[in-house]
Amino acid sequence: MQAVVLVGGEGTRLRPLTLETPKPMVPVMNVPFLERTLVRLKEAGIDDVILPAGYLPEAITSWFGDGSRLGLKIRYVIEETPLGTAGALKNIQQYITGPFFVLNGDVLTSLDLRAMRANHEAKGGLASLHLIRVEDPSAFGCVVHDASGRITAFVEKPKREDAPTDEVNAGTYLLEAEVLDAIPAGRPVSIERETFPQLIAAGKALYAYTTADYWVDLGRPEAYLAAHRDIFIGTMPLGLQPGANGPGAKGVPSSAIIPPVFVGRNVRVAPDAKIGPYTVLGDGCEVGSGAVVADSLLWDGVVVEAGASLDWAIVASRARIGAGAVVGRGSVIGHGAIIAPNAAVGEDARIPTTR
Ligand code: GDD
Ligand code: MG
Repeated sequence: MQAVVLVGGEGTRLRPLTLETPKPMVPVMNVPFLERTLVRLKEAGIDDVILPAGYLPEAITSWFGDGSRLGLKIRYVIEETPLGTAGALKNIQQYITGPFFVLNGDVLTSLDLRAMRANHEAKGGLASLHLIRVEDPSAFGCVVHDASGRITAFVEKPKREDAPTDEVNAGTYLLEAEVLDAIPAGRPVSIERETFPQLIAAGKALYAYTTADYWVDLGRPEAYLAAHRDIFIGTMPLGLQPGANGPGAKGVPSSAIIPPVFVGRNVRVAPDAKIGPYTVLGDGCEVGSGAVVADSLLWDGVVVEAGASLDWAIVASRARIGAGAVVGRGSVIGHGAIIAPNAAVGEDARIPTTR
């Protein structure tokens, strides 16, 4: 079986993190998120993967190459200009040989792809869509279906008061190859706004596959942070050893650790610093004397100088938080950004990459 992972989006809502790192390469527990998705595909018996990319594609191609490290065959199709979620599929039609999975590249879920495939084969429809129930459907595609699971309407991002259901498109589809014939070539096409509504209107059999799995779209900073907390707690199973606190944890003085934490390689942490709980340090991070890093995600090579503090923040690679600086909750610090000593960074601040 084949899978297409859509990885061409610009990740606007994750800026400044995505100014230098495309969204699929944003780390989850220090490993690019897309790698976790690809491992999940491999475990489900899928080893032929096509990646339609376009935004900062070299970061993706150089990391995964031909896929052999993961036991996969990976092909890349780079879009000159974004073709949209269906246009990207039309653009790779020549590679598709049968029914195939499509995954939004920013979804973290415990969905069992084999079970979804079995359900698709039992229903015999043209397409199956994984659905999940959410509190507020307005940021997602609402999917209405009858008691047999047959989809009767697809409404992308309705106003909250207009949402016809709390069941939303969870961004994993299993499509028969004929779906591609319904997508026009040579222009941007949205599968959510155009293709699915048209197929439904034409009376095609699309089926809902609703599960109660763990599910999150990592495309917003709060969701990305919350997903890590869920992984630490175990709500989202990620295959990490229980109690394991990362390959570099032994190098951190135990006086500085408030579990759970996950620590990358070659980090340096002062014995009287405080790391954790729910904190990830990337490779090569340094945390100085008296500094406090709680509920935060530090990418590779981040320096937190003495006495600085962070709580519920995300810091991209090589940024430096000056001595005594206080980084407010919800803040996102860009690649290589420099926060001056004793600075107070407000809540939910977005500090751009320093050039
Ligand atoms: N190749 C390519 N080309 N990929 C694209 C393009 C494009 O032009 N546009 C978006 N993508 C990729 C993104 O990288 C992402 O992996 C996926 O398509 C979905 O795009 P998002 O921008 O993340 O969409 P969304 O989160 O607002 O909404 C989508 O996902 C929701 C679930 O997370 C929709 O599919 C909703 O219906 C759905 O509920
Ligand atoms: Mg998304």
